[in-house]
Amino acid sequence: MQQRLLVVEDDPSVRTTIVTCLELEGYSVDAVSSTREAMERLGANSYPIVISDIYLDDRTGLDVLEAARQKDPGCSVILMSARGSMETVMAATRGGAFDYLAKPFDLDNMLDAIHRAEAARAGQEDGVEIEELPETEMIGSSPRMVEIYKTIAQAAPTDATVLIEGETGTGKELVARMIHRNSRRADQVFRPVDCASIASTLIESELFGSLRGAFTGADRDRAGVFEAAHKGTVFLDEIGEIESNFQLKLLRFLQEREIRPLGATRAKAVDVRIIAATNRDLRALVDSGKFREDLWFRLNVIRLHLPPLRERRGDIALLAQFYLAKYNATYQRDVRLTGTGVRALDEYTWPGNVRQLQHLMERLTILTPGERIDAAAVQAALASAQPDDRLVETLADAEEEQIRRVLAATGGNKSRAAKVLGIERKTLYRKLERMTP
Ligand SMILES: Nc1ncnc2c1ncn2[C@@H]1O[C@H](COP(=O)(O)OP(=O)(O)OP(=O)(O)O)[C@@H](O)[C@H]1O
Ligand SMILES: [Mg+2]
Repeated sequence: MQQRLLVVEDDPSVRTTIVTCLELEGYSVDAVSSTREAMERLGANSYPIVISDIYLDDRTGLDVLEAARQKDPGCSVILMSARGSMETVMAATRGGAFDYLAKPFDLDNMLDAIHRAEAARAGQEDGVEIEELPETEMIGSSPRMVEIYKTIAQAAPTDATVLIEGETGTGKELVARMIHRNSRRADQVFRPVDCASIASTLIESELFGSLRGAFTGADRDRAGVFEAAHKGTVFLDEIGEIESNFQLKLLRFLQEREIRPLGATRAKAVDVRIIAATNRDLRALVDSGKFREDLWFRLNVIRLHLPPLRERRGDIALLAQFYLAKYNATYQRDVRLTGTGVRALDEYTWPGNVRQLQHLMERLTILTPGERIDAAAVQAALASAQPDDRLVETLADAEEEQIRRVLAATGGNKSRAAKVLGIERKTLYRKLERMTP
């Protein structure tokens, strides 16, 4: 049985138009003209979807929104107003409105919002997410990659520490996740830690934890990463960046498998598997005295060296086609690579490796005007990609760029863009607010 929708609109002619349209679409509708009646209905019934005008009487659609969401946090509230301002939009978004329609609007837009609300609801109920390829799928059939797969297969079921080396974007984190997924710890946490981004003064408490009072500001006991990941896998990314003091502590941990949180007198045992990665030449760091040799040995139980893309050129076309299929599906496009397009990809050096190729394919899928990606299109995209694919780009820039691309690809539909980006609509609105137009 379909549930009833609630419509709150004080203008009788608009109200009638909306109700008629919804009824023609097969919905049953309760329509009221004041916030008081709206509150009464909300108190007495449960509505999956509420459509409300903003400016009503002494109270507003924002009050209706609040009441509806309080009663049922899963309720989708669609607000509409002829006097929309940045402020009301922001207030609506903060209040958890599902969508905001500026009047006058096309009834199709309203139906579209309702359908999206229903889809979102169905998605929540049976837990389906947007169709995504499994994140651990690895592409590549070159001999170097086949060797990597074999090592992964051998290493995964053991608890051995693994060291993964390779240039940026070669798939180190992907390999670490694959090892975890294929290990007996697969049902437990996989916890990445970017050693380069944690201040050296904090890394010890971050990983080992701290007790209340251990240092200024330690207002409570905090479990460290190792303890929180008990029985799982910890991925220590950028391991080449840790300082000598912490290198020693990590070595002890690898030997004893015990942690002593900051301020604690006793150690406790934890069971975590360590996978470490670096894009530096760790051997060279050892030789120049910057990395402890004994720690290097401990990490290096199983060593995987991921080849740069230019050393496995046979995989370039495979990866390109893989990402093309993925982004064609995401952006509902149907673009193809021509023979010259493939050759142009083949000839490039790929300093950013698979990540760079992935970004390029995404951009090409979105921005190619026709349906064919030829050599000229590849070269143009590579040339224009230089500034934002530079390896020094800031995270914020990369994020803005990504938001713009996805918004462009979704024709400005923010709900869909948020889904593609994997963030909540609210979060997207907040980010958009901070972005320069
Ligand atoms: N063989 C592969 N098949 C499919 N996708 C891959 C492959 N290798 C890498 N990727 C993809 O490329 C991107 C970069 O991979 P990943 O983050 O694992 O690289 P990384 O080596 O950790 O890079 P960095 O050193 O910059 O952190 C990811 O989106 C990953 O899924
Ligand atoms: Mg990485």
